[in-house]
This record gives sequence, C-alpha cells and structure tokens, in this order.
Amino acid sequence: MSHGQFFLTTPIYYVNAAPHVGHAYTTIMSDILVRHHRQRGDDVFFLTGTDEHGAKIARSAEAAGRTPREHADALSARFREMDEVVGATYDFFIRTTDERHVAEVQNVLSVIHDRGDIYKGSYGGWYCTACETFYAEGDLVDENRCPIHGTAVEWVEEENWFFRLSAFRDRLLALYDENLAFVLPSSRYNEARRMIELGLDDLSISRSQISWGVPVPWDPEQVVYVWVDALFNYWTATRFAEGAEHYWPADLHVMGKDILKFHAVIWPALLMSAGIELPKQLTIHGYVLKGGEKMSKTTGNIVDPFPFIDQYGLDPLRYYLTREIRFGEDGTFSAESFDARYHSELANEFGNLLNRTVNMIGRYRDGVVPPDHGRDAELVAEVDAARDNVVAAFDAVDPTRAVDEIWVLVRRLNRLVEERAPWKLAKDEAAGDDLDQVLFSLAAGLRAVAVLLWPVMPGKCSDALAALGHPAGDPTLAQATMDPGYAGATVAPCPPLFPRIEEQ
Ligand code: MSP
Repeated sequence: MSHGQFFLTTPIYYVNAAPHVGHAYTTIMSDILVRHHRQRGDDVFFLTGTDEHGAKIARSAEAAGRTPREHADALSARFREMDEVVGATYDFFIRTTDERHVAEVQNVLSVIHDRGDIYKGSYGGWYCTACETFYAEGDLVDENRCPIHGTAVEWVEEENWFFRLSAFRDRLLALYDENLAFVLPSSRYNEARRMIELGLDDLSISRSQISWGVPVPWDPEQVVYVWVDALFNYWTATRFAEGAEHYWPADLHVMGKDILKFHAVIWPALLMSAGIELPKQLTIHGYVLKGGEKMSKTTGNIVDPFPFIDQYGLDPLRYYLTREIRFGEDGTFSAESFDARYHSELANEFGNLLNRTVNMIGRYRDGVVPPDHGRDAELVAEVDAARDNVVAAFDAVDPTRAVDEIWVLVRRLNRLVEERAPWKLAKDEAAGDDLDQVLFSLAAGLRAVAVLLWPVMPGKCSDALAALGHPAGDPTLAQATMDPGYAGATVAPCPPLFPRIEEQ
C-alpha cells in the first residue's frame, strides 16, 4: 500500500447564513475521504474554513444589524460548530479575514500584477450577489434572474482591475490534455474543458464600490474580488498554518458543481500567472436536493441537519448522505428514505447481524472468538476483494461506490448466517468445528466490514469493533482481513448499534 501525502480541501463557506445539509454534505464527504487516507497510512492535511468578505456578507451583516466583522465572527463560529457536530477531523480552519491570509493574498496579487497579467479597465454587467459573479445576458433566466438562485440580478458598472484570463487559454488546454483526470467525474472535466475552448473573457478582480475586502495593494481604494481572495485560501493556509508548508500542492479540492468554473478555469490560471504549482485534482459533487430543488440559503429551501442527528445520531446521517446521493450526481434528501435506509440497512442488515454474532459467540463459545479451521477460503478471498475494491473506489474518489462494495460483504454475511444456521449446528455435538468456523467467519467478516466502513461511521464502527473484541484505536486498512490470529479475542455484548426509532 502506498503511503503518501494527502492534502484535501473543502470550499470555504460563505458566512451570510447558517450551515445546512448541503454544506454538511461537502464537509462529511471530505471527512470520509481523509479518514480513509489516514487508514492507509497517508500523511493527511485537511483544510476547511469560511469565506468572509464581499458584498454578500456585507449586506447580510447589515440586514442582521451587525458590522461585517461581528457577523462573520458569529457565523464562522456556526460553521466550526457544524464541523464538530458532523465529526469533521479537519487540521486547519481558515478564515479569510485572518490578517495572515490577507497579507498573503496581497503578496501573490502583487506578483501577478508585476508579471503584467493585471490591467485597469471598465466593465458593466449583470451581477448576482448571492453567487458573487457576473452573468452574460444569455445565461439569465426570466430575463433578469440568476440561473442558480432565481433572484434578480443587478447592473453593475465600474472601473476595475482585470486579470488577463483570456491569455491563459492555451496553457489551460495543455493542462487538461496532459491530465485527463484533473477534474472528476469526466462529465465535469468535459464541461470545464469546453468553457476554456469556447474562449475566456478577462476577469474583473477588484471592486470599487464595496469596502469589505482585501485592499488591492497598489490601489487601496479598491478591494480584491471576493472569489480571488477566497480561492487563494487553499494556498495561503499552507503558508501560515503551522507545519503545513510542505503540503502544497493540494491533492484534492472537493466542491459542488456550482463552483466548477472558479476552480477548474480561473484558479489554475491565477496560479500559473503567480508561478505556483497547480493542485493535482478537483472532484465535483452534485446537489443535495429538497423537493427536487437545490438547497440554498438564498432561496430558503433547506434541510437543517441537526434534528436528524438528534433523532438518529450522527453516523446514520453520514451513511445516508454517502449511500443515498450517488457521489457526483444530484440526489434528494428525504426524511422517508432516511428512515427506510436506517431501519433496513443499518438496523437490520448490519446492527442485527452484529448482535446475533456476538450473542452466539457468548452463548456457544463463552464469548471467545473460536479458531479458524480454514474452511471458508472463498470468504477470505471475498473480503480481500472487498478491501481492494474499496481502495479502488476511494482512488476514483467515489465514496458511494466504496459503501456499495462494503454492503456486498454485509449481505454476504447475512446469507452466511442463514445458510449455516449456527443455532442448528449448536445442537449437534459432531458439528463443533463447523460451528467454530461459522462463528469465526461471521465475527472476522464483520470486523472487516467495521474497519472498511469506519471512515463513514467512525463512532458506530468503533463500537462494533469493541463488541467484536478488536483493540481500541482508529483501525487501519491492513486490519480489514480474515486474519486467523483474530481467534481468541473476547467479544463484549453491546446494546443494539442502531436502535429502532418509533415514528414521531
Ligand atoms: N464561498 C464560496 C466558495 C469559495 S471556495 C474558494 C461558496 N460558498 S457556499 O457556502 O455558497 O457553498 C460552498 C459549497 O457548499 C458548495 O460548493 C457545495 O460544495 C456546498 N453546497 C451548498 N449547497 C449545497 C447543496 N444544496 N448541495 C450540495 N452541496 C452544496 O460557494
């Protein structure tokens, strides 16, 4: 197994309103990816944070009767709280109002300016403040509405500093040609490549009419366009977070499809201009939908993750989001499908099997995992294959497929218990070795399941491993095997992992 460095980022979230399931989704998927990499022995750096400048934040602060700084402090804290509640094991939380970030943004922009890639020009266009971006007239819906938020756009005209994005077309195309996996999935790679092929307009990278932002170093009357300020967070964090410098370039930027262009086109061009090494890969996921529409603070169509966590616990939410919403595609969050997956998959297929296994080992073998008589070679091969398939799925940045692969094993173990009926073997004195074997296979198979599933449900899988007599501590990938040395471990009966939840 290769051990390497793995630097993963989430987008930094706008602090205009409280987090919802859409944000939790990106952060949870990212957390699952980094936990898997830690299991492989990689040296992980997991970066997340908040995007705190710009008109969108300034306006929401005003509406809340607070200064932008007070507003950003309050809402950035809510995102940190979300990280804690969803179990995100980030290594550094960046805020773009951090002075160290501000100074680094100013430095890097000066470099781009000195290279001759920035010039002064005037611009007029339709602006959506919720997106913090200009739209071409043809992209608007209902004449004057933002295609993402459906809210009215505004005509904004000012004299700004421009980045010569158009000059990077060939270099960007070369990047895409050399690295066919630069953007995942391939449909998003194609979409980004098409944007570049069609030709790029230069980008206005400063604003004169707002003051809540990073002052342009050579023209402090203007502030840096919030997206440029924000994109650089990935790099600036490695400049000032302690011990983080060696992590650049990022291995993986994770994000929703709404911000593809910024990351797949503008971001690499800015880095090329600044002479900074490019990130290795971007992975783009779909939207979490509610009632068929994107969840968004701006439209008010949101699901609050916290009540689900209160009712079912955190790990079922992490599992549900991974399994129900195919990574890379849009998927609908619904209370009904949540409840259905919780009861049929988690409570019945996984939790029940664990309890039955531990109880049978208690009853028939005094709580000690019996020896492996080597009669289940097929299952040994299946567990090895499941582990390899999970690794391959994570290499392809597909946590949904990883869980699907693990579930093949869960169902295999459920079939095993029905086929071999240990409760019948227990009545037959001549079948002692057969009973040993089935109990060993079930316990060892479940142990492998809990190890592989641990990045998705760290709490529940740790409980399952403890019940199976596995030593405490974060499990490593190498432990997902049918190791005969596991025999002799003492199981510890536990309450149901996923208790039934009565309808409220
Ligand atoms: N601040 C910018 C990102 C700057 S990164 C340099 C931003 N912030 S955001 O808070 O509006 O959204 C950030 C991310 O949250 C999205 O890219 C996506 O990953 C996630 N999501 C927000 N709503 C979502 C859904 N309804 N569904 C899935 N993800 C969603 O854009």
